[in-house]
Amino acid sequence: MRVLLVGAGGVGTAVTRIAARREFLAHMVVADYDLGRAEAAVAALGQRGTRFSARRLDASDQGAVRRMLVEERCDVLLNATDPRFVMPLFQAALEAGAHYLDMAMSLSAPHGARPYEECGVKLGDEQFALARRWEEAGRLALVGMGVEPGLSDVFARYAADELFDDIEEIGVRDGADLRVEGHDFAPSFSIWTTIEECLNPPVVYEKGRGWFTTPPFSEPEVFEFPEGIGPVECVNVEHEEVLLIPRWVDARRVTFKYGLGDDFIAKLKTLHELGLDSTAPVSVPGDGGPVQVSPRDVVAACLPDPAGLGERMTGKTCAGTWVKGSKDGAPREVYLYHVVDNQWSMREYGSQAVVWQTALNPVVALELLSTGAWSGKGVLGPEALPPRPFLDLLTEYGSPWGLRDDS
Ligand SMILES: NC(=O)c1ccc[n+]([C@@H]2O[C@H](COP(=O)([O-])OP(=O)(O)OC[C@H]3O[C@@H](n4cnc5c(N)ncnc54)[C@H](O)[C@@H]3O)[C@@H](O)[C@H]2O)c1
Repeated sequence: MRVLLVGAGGVGTAVTRIAARREFLAHMVVADYDLGRAEAAVAALGQRGTRFSARRLDASDQGAVRRMLVEERCDVLLNATDPRFVMPLFQAALEAGAHYLDMAMSLSAPHGARPYEECGVKLGDEQFALARRWEEAGRLALVGMGVEPGLSDVFARYAADELFDDIEEIGVRDGADLRVEGHDFAPSFSIWTTIEECLNPPVVYEKGRGWFTTPPFSEPEVFEFPEGIGPVECVNVEHEEVLLIPRWVDARRVTFKYGLGDDFIAKLKTLHELGLDSTAPVSVPGDGGPVQVSPRDVVAACLPDPAGLGERMTGKTCAGTWVKGSKDGAPREVYLYHVVDNQWSMREYGSQAVVWQTALNPVVALELLSTGAWSGKGVLGPEALPPRPFLDLLTEYGSPWGLRDDS
């Protein structure tokens, strides 16, 4: 399998480190508009890097992406840039006849009149609108294939297939006890995406009602995370799983709650009040006269690079799916989860826990596609495909998942 990886940031770099240890990959072209990042990712592989090469590529230039896919004879495009570039990359892959994977879906836009009650444009709507073209082309766009979305969706499908007869609620719950020494505010992955998902109106699914939105940070609850992380306050956040799971898994309610904590929520609210979450360019003085900059890009530029935080980070991160329903007539409640200890991921791969945990899943998916254990056409979420081969391969990669029975 030949892969074009676009984006050599935290997650993209971790993808190269995980993929380099697997045999299925014939070649991976690592592309970024910052060539230095792509080159650094490949150089860091050392002797394991013979199947990797670095190229400069602007993800917003659909034609250039299509040409590179063809020139490099790539079977698959793996998108590890931020979600602004989903559509040009997704369309370039379709035009080039390649398969496509991403870890975040096309962006949402709030409802004009009732943003905290009704959905406007939903996450992934633009991609699902092109589903028929992918089906006709016989190619697969596997969307939301990171850890959350990604592994969380695989867990939902596994629960429906093997653990429950009837599902009342599926709630993805994400929490961590990570600390970064020397930083009061240091998001552990792309700040651009963190702002996007935390400040957009959260979306909830209910059978009979469909998808609807609530105000940011709604329905706080304390969730007990496993493996020593303990209780963390979680709130509703806009996330792809809520849009993906109901398309393939029968459940009466689907939610996503993120363990952000009070301090993080307060800082995000301040950014919003100051208008610094906005992506609309503002005019600021520059050496040669006014320049146009996006406030959110400025915030990202002022914060530490998440990929470089691993050395000073301690603790564990947990991604998982809590499911409530019944089996054989008895009530059942489980939490399916995956925990990564930052010390372990730094020691084994030189990548911090959150980006490593994200990167693991698209590599497992690529391997399943290369062996034919997973196949499909059209625009599919991870829950559209059989969960067992994925969960077994995850364990084979040395990073097993867990099940806590809360019944
Ligand atoms: N599903 C999940 O579980 C999950 C979790 C974390 C992150 N993600 C996704 O992964 C993405 C990447 O996260 P990250 O932490 O690696 O972010 P990052 O900011 O570290 O990396 C993004 C990379 O994209 C590159 N880039 C930016 N603009 C580009 C352009 N026009 N052309 C080519 N390259 C460009 C940057 O140079 C950078 O190397 C996130 O934005 C998010 O969408 C998904």
